[in-house]
Amino acid sequence: MCGIIGYIGENKAKPILINGLLRLEYRGYDSAGIATIEKDEIKTIKNKGRVKNLNDIEEINSLKGTIGIGHTRWATHGKPSSINSHPHADNTNCFSVVHNGIIENYSDLKEFLKSRKYKFLSETDTEVIPNLIHFNYQNSDETGDTKFLKAVVDTCKMLKGSYALEVISSAHPNNMIVVRKDSPLVIGKGLNENYISSDIPAILSFTKDFYILNDLEFAYISRNNIEFYNEDLEKIHKDFQNITLDTSSTEKDGYPDFMLKEINEQSKSVRETIGSRISSSSKTIISDLNINKKFLKTINKIYIIACGTAMHAGLTAKPIFESLCEIPVEVEPASEFRYRNPIITQNTLCLFISQSGETADTIAALKLAKSKNSKTIAISNVVGSSITREADYTVYTHAGPEIAVASTKAYTSQIVLLAIIAIYFAEILDKNSTKINELKNDILLLPSNIEEVLKDTEKIKAFAKRIYKEKDIFFIGRGIDYTVAVEGSLKLKEISYIHSEAYPSGELKHGPIALIENDVTVVSILTNRLLLEKSISNIQEVVTRGAKTFIVTNQELNDDFDEVINIPKTNYLISPVLSVIPLQLLAYYISKEKGLDVDKPRNLAKSVTVE
Ligand code: G6P
Repeated sequence: MCGIIGYIGENKAKPILINGLLRLEYRGYDSAGIATIEKDEIKTIKNKGRVKNLNDIEEINSLKGTIGIGHTRWATHGKPSSINSHPHADNTNCFSVVHNGIIENYSDLKEFLKSRKYKFLSETDTEVIPNLIHFNYQNSDETGDTKFLKAVVDTCKMLKGSYALEVISSAHPNNMIVVRKDSPLVIGKGLNENYISSDIPAILSFTKDFYILNDLEFAYISRNNIEFYNEDLEKIHKDFQNITLDTSSTEKDGYPDFMLKEINEQSKSVRETIGSRISSSSKTIISDLNINKKFLKTINKIYIIACGTAMHAGLTAKPIFESLCEIPVEVEPASEFRYRNPIITQNTLCLFISQSGETADTIAALKLAKSKNSKTIAISNVVGSSITREADYTVYTHAGPEIAVASTKAYTSQIVLLAIIAIYFAEILDKNSTKINELKNDILLLPSNIEEVLKDTEKIKAFAKRIYKEKDIFFIGRGIDYTVAVEGSLKLKEISYIHSEAYPSGELKHGPIALIENDVTVVSILTNRLLLEKSISNIQEVVTRGAKTFIVTNQELNDDFDEVINIPKTNYLISPVLSVIPLQLLAYYISKEKGLDVDKPRNLAKSVTVE
């Protein structure tokens, strides 16, 4: 993962780099560092922990360079420490590099360099890169700027794995070289200045004109020029894109945390997802999906592939597609899918869900599906992100930037969008029109129903106070409610560090019930009238064994439970959009009670760009 920032221009680089790093911290916060060129010498300052720790180092204010690179790290190779922080320099401090990704053949490269007397200070895979650049530079017959460029290109030819790189050199103090392979990198074009970043929002306050780099495109950047080259050192032409996004949506707007802001934004984000795609009186329109009946009729299996919360949205979508389109659906984590030999034919449709659009496993799984001739659809929240460039079709969730590491509004928007896509397919296939009309009406009511759920959060807050010291919490549900249990359990683990398990209610008695004892909390979701009695029986089984119960339901309950959160009635297939909200809030308030950093939980990152 890791966040990369760069600046080359007429202003001091340091404040711009720090500003960008703060915005990229969601990609990792184990350590941070910057390097600038000061009077033809590279100066590097780095520190363990958050960007704030880096900015607190007094010496950082002495950096006056107008060219610089910065990095915020999510540790892969080498523990979080100052020495393992980026930027990394070669032995002569002539080249400095920041890197996002993993160099898979770094041990071989290290041995190669060691045998040529290069020394290593860190435990990282990255440190081989500046030293290889130095090696290639020393052994090059080229002169001038091409010598620098060729050394970087030759180095990349030796690397296996994924990387987004920024390279500066004291021998070329007016230039920076950047390149990417399977890790994101964008260049923002300014007036007599240029910006580099892992994502667009981090530099959107400086420029709106962006070059999106493709794999193995090298950019040779000065303050007023950007040249692009391919691996053969041939110049290539690239057009920039003008990107407009509302940057105010990346601020907290008076909320104590981004997560609480994003939970509360769900009525708006779901409204944006719906947009004008569905209406009760006409057929569904998804302008970016140009799929016809002839093709859809050939589809006999749908795969939904994603990671983390996005995969949980896929689990929820499975019954929606199966019930409306009558096509079997398989949902699989991208990290599993990519390393087996899934049965994919041209009659298989593959949907890939990724909020960031940059999750390494999801991108690799998408490439695999394409290589097997499947049609691919990307569902993403980030315009121009990697999966959107790989897939045959892209449909955006339009949920607005999601900053908190734990996903909330992206998840609900993903479910809504998947439901809309299922409706769109079913309409094309002329299937289940009555069901569809009812579902559409309930989708259109979702924004106001979400507002209803968010109106009263006091009971959830009070219950969080009661249970925040617990060690294990269970989540149960049947059918679609089970898919919400899984997401509720993940939210809790992610931000409160409480161990939790989600189980289909009926499976509890096959093992986990052995763990239920006096005062253990069991969270249960009940939205299916047809399964109500069965589910209540399962809850009674844990109550009998002493469990405390927290129930989220839209059904009338006759029995007494410790806490019951009532949510509005809606079509069962989209009930997760409402029932997950009390679970998001429960996790949030528990984390707050424990005094934890809700937005940046330990060991996690928002965008997992390494496998
Ligand atoms: C990380 C994040 C999760 C997210 C998952 C998939 O684990 O912490 O919140 O659900 O990645 O991310 P994506 O951007 O592909 O949806």
